[in-house]
Amino acid sequence: MHSRIAGTGSYLPAAVVTNFDLERRMETTDAWIRERTGIERRHIVAPGETTVDMAEHAARAAIAAAGCRPEDIELIIVGTCTPDLVFPNPGVMLQARLGCRGVPAFSVEAACSGFIYALSMADKFIRAGEVRRALVVGAESLSKITNPNDRGTAILFGDGAGAVVLVADEQAGIISTHLHADGAYIDLLRATGGVSAGHSPTGDVIQMAGAEVFKVAVTMLGRIVDETLAANGLEKSAIDWLVPHQANIRIIQATAKKLAMPMERVIVTVQDHGNTSTASVPLALDVGVRDGRIKRGDMLLLEAFGGGFTWGSALVRF
Ligand code: UT7
Repeated sequence: MHSRIAGTGSYLPAAVVTNFDLERRMETTDAWIRERTGIERRHIVAPGETTVDMAEHAARAAIAAAGCRPEDIELIIVGTCTPDLVFPNPGVMLQARLGCRGVPAFSVEAACSGFIYALSMADKFIRAGEVRRALVVGAESLSKITNPNDRGTAILFGDGAGAVVLVADEQAGIISTHLHADGAYIDLLRATGGVSAGHSPTGDVIQMAGAEVFKVAVTMLGRIVDETLAANGLEKSAIDWLVPHQANIRIIQATAKKLAMPMERVIVTVQDHGNTSTASVPLALDVGVRDGRIKRGDMLLLEAFGGGFTWGSALVRF
């Protein structure tokens, strides 16, 4: 038994902050942000709108696209580092909204790689024969943990959610997943505000040494591309679409180059979404599916890299 993606969905909050809006707020320029990151705008949650609100929109869209009903879902995994509450976990809160009471529901915190981690776990539940339909969501309200005055991070991050429904199938959709972490890099990228370590006197926000993170991201993503292809005995040319984490267009270009892929075969949303952490891969996937570029049968390489560091990939026959 294998799992395959039966439907995708996504949600972006209505409010958009452009680079020009940021120019008015801090010492930066639209030209610098576009040239160094590829970002032009990002969506930001409305007051009172939460991660679970966005997750619900994305989940309902994915469930509809999969042609099933919320009560058909047998497992919910939500990737996020910005949950509504400490507990119940956002998977449980989403389960209550969808009305599939009783099925297991939990969240995964692996920063920007959270969706790949969640996808990998859901795939294993299905392959083990424990469930037949799983909802996997990546949702983030990063604006809630971003210092609006820090030009090193405020220009990068946005809010949103993406989701997929995985179903059991004899044909492999999720062909392989590859997960990694190296906790030695905590000083380069972290968000404070953890319950047991207490709150930071300077505010609980994302702290990032951008240039250092950039270098490790390019190296690790290059390696995981090789690892994914080698594990499946595939040539680079076997990949139809790269669906990367949307952190920086220059990181995406470096990974595409490693795969010898023209940028026309890469789903790029960073210009419109910014970096939405766990939401970025399922958001990009949904964009590529709904605009008709990604078709049934296409071979996809999903990858992400984020705080921890954590990184991972999924080889998917769509
Ligand atoms: O998703 C999780 C993983 N995160 C990432 O993958 C993010 C990885 N890092 C990056 O994307 C890039 O490092 C950034 C976009 C964060 C920064 O770009 P960079 O090319 O690495 O810039 P830098 O930090 O090396 O700074 C270059 C210059 C500095 O000025 P000096 O010292 O050369 O005079 C900065 O002070 O650019 C300056 N700078 C800015 N200027 C205008 C930094 N931020 C800004 C800004 N506007 N927003």
